[in-house]
Amino acid sequence: MLKSKDLLGIKDLSTDEINIILDTASSFKDVLKRDIKKVPTLRGRTVVNLFYEPSTRTRTSFEVASKRLSTDVINFSVSTSAVVKGEAIIDTALTVQALGADIIIVRHASSGVPHLLARKLEASVINAGDGMNEHPTQALLDAFTMKEKKGRIDGLKVAIVGDIAHSRVAKSNIYCLKKLGASVRLVGPPTLVPDVIGQLGVDTYYDMNRGIKGVDVVMMLRIQRERQGTGFIPSTDEYFKNWGLNTERLALANDDAIVMHPGPMNRGIEITSQVADGARSVILEQVTNGIAVRMAVLYLLAGARK
Ligand code: CP
Repeated sequence: MLKSKDLLGIKDLSTDEINIILDTASSFKDVLKRDIKKVPTLRGRTVVNLFYEPSTRTRTSFEVASKRLSTDVINFSVSTSAVVKGEAIIDTALTVQALGADIIIVRHASSGVPHLLARKLEASVINAGDGMNEHPTQALLDAFTMKEKKGRIDGLKVAIVGDIAHSRVAKSNIYCLKKLGASVRLVGPPTLVPDVIGQLGVDTYYDMNRGIKGVDVVMMLRIQRERQGTGFIPSTDEYFKNWGLNTERLALANDDAIVMHPGPMNRGIEITSQVADGARSVILEQVTNGIAVRMAVLYLLAGARK
């Protein structure tokens, strides 16, 4: 069982809670392999997707997960709502709660918005990505995929490569992987790997070839141009030359290393199509696993609310 009614970040979870989510997700993955993939577990509950930033994977995955659990799921359309008339997010969230939401899934460009809503609402709040802070369900589905593919997380060498500074995925993964006993390397240009992150107990590499040598997992990150000012990288061509993952570079990792990416990918900037679509890529399996992991989170939070 989870202690909180909300899932705001991996930082706040204990190792036991992470393992409970991963084990529960494993049971739901079995359900998803059946002919009839739907269970009545959360019938009568209402889930609302409240996304103030674009999303393909996370929003759709939460919608599928909610439907598989038989909840009523509502995709709130920010662009056609009273938000465009200036309604504050707290008033929108209180309105959604008054309409019957039991669980509100929120994505917002500002760090801390899910935390603010969690304090003000009785409904459970799930952070689907807040600014440059955290994206907890992404890290959980990444951990689930690593465990499924490598059989363990404890002792794995994981290289997270690219735009660490602007990445909520990187931060949630660092917290999650450290709690589960992995050895984490951050690899990227000094402009995109801030010194302060070294305090989280990770190793930093400013040379891609050294950084991915001998690792079990290469996790590539997207260059987040929407969160960057100018001057972090000289050009995308230069970035690809120094930090892009191609077949030759991947050969430096362990022979059975897997390649991950949270998506959306910038093909030809941080990863070649040959690697992204290659035999060692588990990128689409990450997406599929996201459904089972999000079913587990919805189920456990509903239990915590009871
Ligand atoms: N990984 C991820 O958060 O993707 P979306 O932006 O498509 O949700």
